[in-house]
Amino acid sequence: GRVGVLMGGVSSEREISLRSGHAVLKALQHAGVDAVAVDLQRDWSRNIEQAGIHSAFNLLHGTLGEDGCVQGMLEVMGIPYTGSGVMASALCMNKLLSKQLLSSAGIKVPLDIAINENGPLRYPVFLKPVSEGSSIGLHLLESKAQWLELNIHGSESWMAEMPVNGVEIAVSVLDGRALPPVEVSPKSGVYDYTSKYTAGATEYFCPARLPAETVRYCMQRAEEAVAALHCKGAPRVDMIVDGGGEPLVLEINTLPGMTETSLLPKSAAAAGISFEDLCLRILATASL
Ligand code: DAL
Ligand code: MG
Repeated sequence: GRVGVLMGGVSSEREISLRSGHAVLKALQHAGVDAVAVDLQRDWSRNIEQAGIHSAFNLLHGTLGEDGCVQGMLEVMGIPYTGSGVMASALCMNKLLSKQLLSSAGIKVPLDIAINENGPLRYPVFLKPVSEGSSIGLHLLESKAQWLELNIHGSESWMAEMPVNGVEIAVSVLDGRALPPVEVSPKSGVYDYTSKYTAGATEYFCPARLPAETVRYCMQRAEEAVAALHCKGAPRVDMIVDGGGEPLVLEINTLPGMTETSLLPKSAAAAGISFEDLCLRILATASL
Protein backbone atom coordinates (compact mmCIF):
# COMPACT_ATOMS: atom_id res chain seq x y z
CA GLY A 1 0.00 0.00 0.00
CA ARG A 2 0.84 3.66 -0.16
CA VAL A 3 3.40 5.01 2.31
CA GLY A 4 3.06 8.52 3.72
CA VAL A 5 6.33 10.19 4.68
CA LEU A 6 5.27 12.40 7.58
CA MET A 7 7.37 15.56 7.70
CA GLY A 8 7.40 19.21 8.69
CA GLY A 9 5.33 19.60 11.81
CA VAL A 10 5.14 22.60 14.10
CA SER A 11 8.17 22.15 16.36
CA SER A 12 11.33 24.23 16.27
CA GLU A 13 12.88 21.36 14.27
CA ARG A 14 10.45 21.75 11.33
CA GLU A 15 13.17 22.64 8.82
CA ILE A 16 15.30 19.64 9.79
CA SER A 17 12.25 17.38 9.51
CA LEU A 18 11.56 18.62 5.98
CA ARG A 19 15.17 17.84 5.03
CA SER A 20 14.93 14.36 6.57
CA GLY A 21 11.55 13.78 4.95
CA HIS A 22 12.53 14.75 1.43
CA ALA A 23 15.72 12.67 1.56
CA VAL A 24 13.74 9.58 2.61
CA LEU A 25 10.90 10.25 0.17
CA LYS A 26 13.37 10.39 -2.71
CA ALA A 27 15.07 7.16 -1.62
CA LEU A 28 11.78 5.26 -1.19
CA GLN A 29 10.49 6.42 -4.58
CA HIS A 30 13.79 5.46 -6.19
CA ALA A 31 13.37 1.99 -4.69
CA GLY A 32 9.95 1.72 -6.34
CA VAL A 33 7.83 2.32 -3.22
CA ASP A 34 4.54 4.18 -3.70
CA ALA A 35 5.48 6.96 -1.28
CA VAL A 36 3.99 10.43 -0.89
CA ALA A 37 5.02 13.45 1.17
CA VAL A 38 2.64 14.41 3.96
CA ASP A 39 3.70 17.87 5.19
CA LEU A 40 1.87 18.41 8.47
CA GLN A 41 1.25 21.87 9.81
CA ARG A 42 -2.49 22.25 10.50
CA ASP A 43 -5.33 19.72 10.63
CA TRP A 44 -3.05 16.73 11.00
CA SER A 45 -5.70 14.01 11.11
CA ARG A 46 -7.49 15.36 8.05
CA ASN A 47 -4.27 15.65 6.06
CA ILE A 48 -3.25 12.12 6.95
CA GLU A 49 -6.70 10.80 6.06
CA GLN A 50 -6.80 12.64 2.73
CA ALA A 51 -3.37 11.32 1.75
CA GLY A 52 -4.94 7.85 1.53
CA ILE A 53 -1.95 6.10 3.08
CA HIS A 54 -1.68 2.58 4.46
CA SER A 55 1.40 3.16 6.58
CA ALA A 56 3.40 6.11 7.86
CA PHE A 57 7.16 6.68 7.70
CA ASN A 58 7.47 9.17 10.52
CA LEU A 59 10.18 11.82 10.14
CA LEU A 60 8.62 14.47 12.33
CA HIS A 61 11.02 15.74 15.00
CA GLY A 62 10.14 17.25 18.38
CA THR A 63 6.80 18.41 19.79
CA LEU A 64 3.68 16.56 18.53
CA GLY A 65 5.64 14.41 16.08
CA GLU A 66 8.23 12.67 18.26
CA ASP A 67 6.64 12.89 21.70
CA GLY A 68 3.85 10.32 21.42
CA CYS A 69 1.10 12.66 20.19
CA VAL A 70 1.01 11.74 16.49
CA GLN A 71 1.79 8.14 17.46
CA GLY A 72 -1.43 8.08 19.50
CA MET A 73 -3.36 9.58 16.61
CA LEU A 74 -2.03 6.94 14.20
CA GLU A 75 -2.93 4.20 16.68
CA VAL A 76 -6.50 5.52 16.78
CA MET A 77 -6.62 5.79 12.97
CA GLY A 78 -5.23 2.25 12.60
CA ILE A 79 -2.25 3.33 10.46
CA PRO A 80 1.01 1.42 11.15
CA TYR A 81 3.96 3.76 11.69
CA THR A 82 7.74 3.64 12.01
CA GLY A 83 9.59 4.46 15.19
CA SER A 84 8.67 4.04 18.83
CA GLY A 85 5.16 3.75 20.24
CA VAL A 86 3.28 6.26 22.37
CA MET A 87 4.88 5.50 25.73
CA ALA A 88 8.52 5.23 24.61
CA SER A 89 8.17 8.34 22.45
CA ALA A 90 6.78 10.38 25.33
CA LEU A 91 9.44 9.14 27.77
CA CYS A 92 12.38 9.73 25.44
CA MET A 93 11.21 13.26 24.61
CA ASN A 94 11.66 14.11 28.29
CA LYS A 95 15.39 14.03 29.02
CA LEU A 96 14.92 14.10 32.81
CA LEU A 97 12.45 11.21 32.97
CA SER A 98 14.35 9.10 30.46
CA LYS A 99 17.62 9.61 32.36
CA GLN A 100 15.95 8.47 35.57
CA LEU A 101 14.68 5.30 33.90
CA LEU A 102 18.03 4.58 32.26
CA SER A 103 19.74 5.09 35.57
CA SER A 104 17.43 2.63 37.32
CA ALA A 105 18.18 0.14 34.53
CA GLY A 106 21.86 0.36 35.48
CA ILE A 107 22.93 2.62 32.62
CA LYS A 108 25.14 5.57 33.54
CA VAL A 109 23.94 9.10 32.78
CA PRO A 110 25.46 12.55 33.46
CA LEU A 111 24.60 14.02 36.85
CA ASP A 112 21.64 16.40 36.99
CA ILE A 113 22.36 19.69 38.80
CA ALA A 114 19.50 21.29 40.68
CA ILE A 115 18.29 24.73 39.58
CA ASN A 116 16.76 27.10 42.12
CA GLU A 117 15.68 30.74 41.87
CA ASN A 118 19.37 31.73 41.82
CA GLY A 119 20.15 29.41 38.93
CA PRO A 120 22.08 26.13 38.74
CA LEU A 121 23.83 25.11 41.96
CA ARG A 122 27.23 24.70 40.29
CA TYR A 123 29.29 25.73 37.26
CA PRO A 124 30.38 24.99 34.61
CA VAL A 125 27.10 23.37 33.66
CA PHE A 126 25.11 22.52 30.56
CA LEU A 127 21.68 24.13 30.57
CA LYS A 128 19.13 22.62 28.20
CA PRO A 129 15.38 22.45 27.64
CA VAL A 130 13.93 19.20 29.04
CA SER A 131 12.02 18.43 25.83
CA GLU A 132 13.79 19.71 22.74
CA GLY A 133 15.88 18.30 19.92
CA SER A 134 18.82 19.25 17.72
CA SER A 135 20.47 20.97 20.72
CA ILE A 136 18.07 23.90 20.44
CA GLY A 137 18.44 25.99 23.61
CA LEU A 138 21.68 24.33 24.70
CA HIS A 139 24.01 26.59 26.72
CA LEU A 140 27.32 25.91 28.42
CA LEU A 141 27.28 28.23 31.44
CA GLU A 142 30.57 29.11 33.12
CA SER A 143 29.20 31.40 35.82
CA LYS A 144 26.15 32.85 37.50
CA ALA A 145 26.63 36.03 35.46
CA GLN A 146 25.96 34.01 32.30
CA TRP A 147 22.81 32.55 33.88
CA LEU A 148 21.55 36.06 34.72
CA GLU A 149 22.36 37.21 31.19
CA LEU A 150 20.08 34.51 29.76
CA ASN A 151 17.20 35.93 31.80
CA ILE A 152 15.25 32.67 31.72
CA HIS A 153 11.60 32.86 32.70
CA GLY A 154 8.22 31.73 31.44
CA SER A 155 6.82 28.26 31.10
CA GLU A 156 9.76 26.56 29.37
CA SER A 157 11.19 23.74 31.37
CA TRP A 158 14.96 23.66 31.78
CA MET A 159 17.45 21.20 33.21
CA ALA A 160 21.10 21.52 34.16
CA GLU A 161 23.64 18.78 33.63
CA MET A 162 27.23 18.31 34.74
CA PRO A 163 29.63 18.34 31.76
CA VAL A 164 31.47 15.06 31.20
CA ASN A 165 34.99 14.94 29.81
CA GLY A 166 35.21 12.37 27.10
CA VAL A 167 34.49 11.32 23.55
CA GLU A 168 31.00 12.04 22.22
CA ILE A 169 29.52 9.24 20.12
CA ALA A 170 26.13 8.45 18.64
CA VAL A 171 25.07 4.80 18.52
CA SER A 172 22.15 4.09 16.23
CA VAL A 173 20.24 0.89 16.86
CA LEU A 174 18.47 -0.63 13.86
CA ASP A 175 15.72 -3.06 14.83
CA GLY A 176 17.40 -3.88 18.15
CA ARG A 177 20.98 -4.21 16.82
CA ALA A 178 23.55 -1.46 17.29
CA LEU A 179 25.32 -0.08 14.22
CA PRO A 180 28.94 1.17 14.31
CA PRO A 181 29.06 4.39 16.40
CA VAL A 182 29.90 7.76 14.88
CA GLU A 183 32.27 9.96 16.90
CA VAL A 184 31.44 13.66 16.71
CA SER A 185 34.14 16.27 17.14
CA PRO A 186 32.71 19.79 16.82
CA LYS A 187 35.31 22.43 15.92
CA SER A 188 33.71 24.86 18.41
CA GLY A 189 34.02 22.29 21.21
CA VAL A 190 30.25 22.13 21.79
CA TYR A 191 27.99 19.99 19.59
CA ASP A 192 25.17 22.52 19.28
CA TYR A 193 22.65 23.34 16.51
CA THR A 194 25.23 25.18 14.41
CA SER A 195 27.79 22.37 14.76
CA LYS A 196 25.12 19.85 13.80
CA TYR A 197 23.78 21.45 10.66
CA THR A 198 26.58 23.59 9.23
CA ALA A 199 28.73 21.83 6.63
CA GLY A 200 32.30 21.50 7.87
CA ALA A 201 31.54 22.61 11.46
CA THR A 202 32.01 19.13 12.91
CA GLU A 203 34.41 16.30 12.16
CA TYR A 204 32.87 12.82 12.11
CA PHE A 205 34.78 9.61 12.71
CA CYS A 206 33.26 6.26 11.89
CA PRO A 207 34.74 4.02 13.17
CA ALA A 208 35.11 6.08 16.34
CA ARG A 209 38.65 6.70 17.60
CA LEU A 210 38.21 4.38 20.57
CA PRO A 211 39.56 0.91 21.35
CA ALA A 212 37.56 -1.82 19.59
CA GLU A 213 36.65 -3.31 22.95
CA THR A 214 35.22 0.02 24.17
CA VAL A 215 33.23 0.40 20.96
CA ARG A 216 31.73 -3.07 21.40
CA TYR A 217 30.83 -2.26 25.01
CA CYS A 218 29.16 1.03 24.01
CA MET A 219 27.14 -0.76 21.32
CA GLN A 220 25.95 -3.27 23.89
CA ARG A 221 25.01 -0.49 26.33
CA ALA A 222 23.10 1.32 23.55
CA GLU A 223 21.09 -1.84 22.84
CA GLU A 224 20.34 -2.14 26.55
CA ALA A 225 19.27 1.51 26.76
CA VAL A 226 16.90 1.14 23.82
CA ALA A 227 15.43 -2.05 25.29
CA ALA A 228 15.03 -0.44 28.74
CA LEU A 229 12.87 2.34 27.28
CA HIS A 230 11.01 0.06 24.85
CA CYS A 231 12.08 1.96 21.73
CA LYS A 232 11.41 0.53 18.27
CA GLY A 233 12.54 1.21 14.72
CA ALA A 234 15.87 3.00 14.43
CA PRO A 235 16.55 5.12 17.54
CA ARG A 236 19.91 6.83 18.12
CA VAL A 237 21.57 6.81 21.53
CA ASP A 238 23.81 9.82 22.18
CA MET A 239 26.55 9.23 24.73
CA ILE A 240 29.84 10.49 26.09
CA VAL A 241 32.52 7.90 26.77
CA ASP A 242 34.52 8.90 29.84
CA GLY A 243 38.24 8.33 30.39
CA GLY A 244 37.54 4.89 31.88
CA GLY A 245 35.69 3.75 28.74
CA GLU A 246 32.26 3.96 30.38
CA PRO A 247 29.50 5.51 28.23
CA LEU A 248 27.19 8.04 29.88
CA VAL A 249 23.91 8.29 27.97
CA LEU A 250 22.76 11.85 27.24
CA GLU A 251 19.50 10.84 25.62
CA ILE A 252 17.76 8.55 23.15
CA ASN A 253 16.37 10.09 19.97
CA THR A 254 13.41 8.05 18.83
CA LEU A 255 13.20 9.73 15.39
CA PRO A 256 16.77 10.72 14.53
CA GLY A 257 17.61 12.98 11.62
CA MET A 258 17.73 11.31 8.21
CA THR A 259 19.29 14.03 6.11
CA GLU A 260 21.95 12.49 3.88
CA THR A 261 24.61 13.82 6.27
CA SER A 262 22.90 12.79 9.52
CA LEU A 263 24.48 10.35 11.96
CA LEU A 264 22.18 7.32 11.52
CA PRO A 265 22.85 7.14 7.73
CA LYS A 266 26.60 7.44 8.45
CA SER A 267 26.47 4.48 10.84
CA ALA A 268 24.39 2.46 8.39
CA ALA A 269 26.91 3.18 5.61
CA ALA A 270 29.71 1.93 7.88
CA ALA A 271 27.76 -1.31 8.24
CA GLY A 272 27.43 -1.60 4.46
CA ILE A 273 23.79 -0.47 4.41
CA SER A 274 23.05 2.15 1.74
CA PHE A 275 20.72 5.08 2.46
CA GLU A 276 18.06 3.46 0.27
CA ASP A 277 18.36 0.09 2.05
CA LEU A 278 18.27 1.84 5.42
CA CYS A 279 14.98 3.51 4.47
CA LEU A 280 13.53 0.16 3.33
CA ARG A 281 14.67 -1.57 6.53
CA ILE A 282 13.08 1.13 8.70
CA LEU A 283 9.89 0.99 6.65
CA ALA A 284 9.74 -2.78 7.27
CA THR A 285 9.56 -2.10 11.03
CA ALA A 286 6.34 -0.05 10.73
CA SER A 287 3.73 -1.40 13.12
CA LEU A 288 0.81 -0.51 15.31
N1 DAL B 1 16.53 15.67 16.82
C1 DAL B 1 17.41 15.49 15.69
C2 DAL B 1 16.65 15.50 14.42
C3 DAL B 1 18.23 14.27 15.83
O1 DAL B 1 18.25 13.71 16.89
O2 DAL B 1 18.85 13.85 14.85
MG1 MG C 1 17.69 14.78 20.76
